[in-house]
Amino acid sequence: MEAESPASTQQILVARELSKSFGGIRAVDRASIDVPQGSITGLIGPNGAGKTTLFNLLSNFLRPDRGEVIFAGQAIHHLQPHQITQQGMVRTFQVARVLSRLSVMENMLLAAQQQAGENFWNVWFRPGQTLRQERQQREYASEILESVRLSHMAQSYAGSLSGGQRKLLEIARALMVRPKLVLLDEPAAGVNPTLMNQICEHITQWNQEGLTFLIIEHNMDVIMSLCDRVWVLAEGQNLAVGTPTEIQRNPQVLEAYLGQ
Ligand SMILES: Nc1ncnc2c1ncn2[C@@H]1O[C@H](COP(=O)(O)OP(=O)(O)OP(=O)(O)O)[C@@H](O)[C@H]1O
Ligand SMILES: [Mg+2]
Repeated sequence: MEAESPASTQQILVARELSKSFGGIRAVDRASIDVPQGSITGLIGPNGAGKTTLFNLLSNFLRPDRGEVIFAGQAIHHLQPHQITQQGMVRTFQVARVLSRLSVMENMLLAAQQQAGENFWNVWFRPGQTLRQERQQREYASEILESVRLSHMAQSYAGSLSGGQRKLLEIARALMVRPKLVLLDEPAAGVNPTLMNQICEHITQWNQEGLTFLIIEHNMDVIMSLCDRVWVLAEGQNLAVGTPTEIQRNPQVLEAYLGQ
């Protein structure tokens, strides 16, 4: 199988010829993408190009009409989104989905519990183990919140955070499951420049610690400063792939953006 060839063992994620239509709209049309292990890979394209839909297909939030996704060497079409998360691929949403009426800490803990497949019987038969796990998760959550400078908000309602802080909380929450690959859908959208720089620094640092990222972003400064390679999608199809500098100079890419 293709994913087992030596050339592709370096890829943590490979998607081949994915398609998805909504009624008459071909949102994603035979799109392919590779994400090298250890990279920060970008995904850009005009509004409506199909980027978010592609994320939904990669993480099985949507079933593709055709095509396949291979994560860490294995086809994942048969897995539910939470099972994919358990395997180490986690995603965030274009509009941050934090639970406003829970505290920041509760949001963090809930992410870990959901992904652990919270087992009812454990609570009854292994209360000691459950308590120990919760203490460990709380410590890990505190560590992450500290690193993203949200500790002072740990007990505040997530609803009281600014838009940028919510984005940050969503990323922080994704890390609770100790993923291998994080898909970020527009992490810088609606975030002020100071916080945006902070988010970029965190992403760089987590990447240096071994985490791989696939990032959808409209902000080209963010793409230029973070990404090793960038895939460009237009009208659901692959338009180009290359380094940020190559992509910035590509006339077809420019045309796609100007034509929107
Ligand atoms: N659930 C859906 N039902 C119907 N059409 C949809 C659905 N989701 C997306 N689309 C359509 O599919 C196309 C691609 O949308 P998508 O959200 O993937 O684009 P995008 O590249 O993420 O855009 P943006 O940069 O604005 O976030 C659009 O025409 C959109 O209207
Ligand atoms: Mg989108």
